[in-house]
Amino acid sequence: MTGTAKHAHLSQWKCPSNIALVKYWGKRDFQKPMNPSLSFVLQNAFTETSVELHKDGDQKVAYYFEGLESPFGDRIEKYLDHISGQFTWVNKYNFRISSRNSFPHSAGIASSASSFGALALCLTELDFVHSGKGPDCPEFWQKASELARMGSGSACRSLYPGFSIWGQTQLFESSSDEHAIPLSDGVHPVFSGLRDAILMVDSGTKEVSSSVGHRLMDEHHYQRSRIAQAHENINELYLALLTGDQEKFIAVVENEALSLHAMMMTSNPSFLLLKPNSLELISRIRRFREKSHMPVCFTIDAGPNIHLLYFQENELDVKAFIERELLAFCENGKWIDDRIGKGPERLKDWPSTGSGTGSI
Ligand code: DP6
Repeated sequence: MTGTAKHAHLSQWKCPSNIALVKYWGKRDFQKPMNPSLSFVLQNAFTETSVELHKDGDQKVAYYFEGLESPFGDRIEKYLDHISGQFTWVNKYNFRISSRNSFPHSAGIASSASSFGALALCLTELDFVHSGKGPDCPEFWQKASELARMGSGSACRSLYPGFSIWGQTQLFESSSDEHAIPLSDGVHPVFSGLRDAILMVDSGTKEVSSSVGHRLMDEHHYQRSRIAQAHENINELYLALLTGDQEKFIAVVENEALSLHAMMMTSNPSFLLLKPNSLELISRIRRFREKSHMPVCFTIDAGPNIHLLYFQENELDVKAFIERELLAFCENGKWIDDRIGKGPERLKDWPSTGSGTGSI
């Protein structure tokens, strides 16, 4: 391989995880959402991935997670097989993929979002280099979001700074079930100081995988009203983001978190993922808000951990409250200090393609 060609076979990206405020729960067709969702990317919880293309041996995918070969390679192999219809060059190479997370596996942070986000960015870069397109090509982010979605739905919302929306909504003509869109324009500056304290209630493995969970919505008694609720909540939340209305923000975010768990509790079979300490944290957060009049609230993923959301100007008071009143209900007193983030980062220069197209 020449120096230039070798470069064109390697891509490295860092991609954050995200936390949904309006939740994606339930799918249609292949990896399309039943309802639109809205999330923001985290700053400190991210995955770094490098993808190297080669033609040695006959192992299609060698996947190393934090230095060790991992069985997640099988899921990636299926994923690559799926996208090879669109990216035919995928069939010509074997893949050496290395990945690491900035957060422990037990943190209960959705690692599939940052993992598939980072992988999709590497693959999109390799594809664009292959077609002779530059890094500023406007479709780059949309394409990467679409590819990420095919690996894990929530991953498509990890590719932009700040807030993103995934799924068709009346709010934006450009919204789509195929990829997320960024929501940077017009968001009130108070939300640039959004903080997320992840309170670890239980680091054990999930009782329900998200793919099983999504399937529970197929026959759910409340399916139609859940879809209608998500549309209403996304409209309300968007308005709150534009106007800086923290009270409305809090009302929608908590309603969504509890609705997600209500859907799980009332499905067949039913799942109860909240633990006694999750409920204790929720009631303490609400009591603190009532007494202090500070804009704090919670959101929850498909697990028992509680994300305490607050704003930069209340940081000292909220951190003192966490230490004083909440850590006793966290597993081994563990919590993660995170905030709204700036989105993905390329870790290596865009490869020079030399002769343009056809370099991979
Ligand atoms: C509760 O994106 O993990 O976190 O598409 O099957 O990979 P797959 O599901 P996934 O589901 C996330 C569900 C959620 C809510 C959300 O992130 O919107």
